[in-house]
Amino acid sequence: MNQLPMNQLETASGGKMSKIIVANWKMNGSNAFINTFFQKLTPKSPHKVVFCPPYPYLSVVSSHIKEYHYYLGAQDCHTNNAGAFTGDISAEMLIDIGCQYVILGHSERRQHHQETSDIVFKKSQMAIHTGLTPIICVGETLNDRNTKNHLDVVKQQLIQSIPQTTTPLIIAYEPVWAIGTGLTATLSDIVEMHQMITTHCQHKDKVLYGGSVTTDNASEILSQPNVDGVLVGGASLKPEMLNTIIE
Ligand code: 13P
Repeated sequence: MNQLPMNQLETASGGKMSKIIVANWKMNGSNAFINTFFQKLTPKSPHKVVFCPPYPYLSVVSSHIKEYHYYLGAQDCHTNNAGAFTGDISAEMLIDIGCQYVILGHSERRQHHQETSDIVFKKSQMAIHTGLTPIICVGETLNDRNTKNHLDVVKQQLIQSIPQTTTPLIIAYEPVWAIGTGLTATLSDIVEMHQMITTHCQHKDKVLYGGSVTTDNASEILSQPNVDGVLVGGASLKPEMLNTIIE
């Protein structure tokens, strides 16, 4: 692994370059957990930190993060803004309760809810139209990578999932085989994929890496060119770990 020194995170002026750290709590948390969590969280960060708890806890987390100037995101939204869609949540509702971001097309939604790139495209359109910044997830399976199709697969996901817009977007590269497995892509694999994603995005879009990001690998991943931040699952549920990643 070609490691870059930590000072790659410094800007030319010597200041710290701001990164985006997104905490995807998935289907985890409770009121008691959230109370304890925020007692242990370091209050301030030079980085943009976005919390994406499950829907029932969005407002609770919102009240905790206001004083820290952190941001709120949801883990999904519907393609429509209102109507007879039992169990669904709209982008308008998310804006109404203070969300700024929404994760869309996560591989767990693609896998367990049969979400196609076409659905992700429509959800992204609605999110953008409503004023949310979508965090659009793409990533290859292990089979795609082993058969050397990873770049083509992700390129197709980008083409099919991302609507034409002048709104700056966030794209999250999450190799499916690295999610919750303890396996991470090598630094050169991350750089290669982010390079490809960058050439298919608008200049102002941000590209995050996700997949078993921990305190052990966050700083070197964040030091890579074209890595604007990280999307963190398991480690974001541990305040001590999240503090270290943010720092
Ligand atoms: P882990 O960090 O637990 O691998 O999860 C990654 C992820 O899916 C974030 O969206």
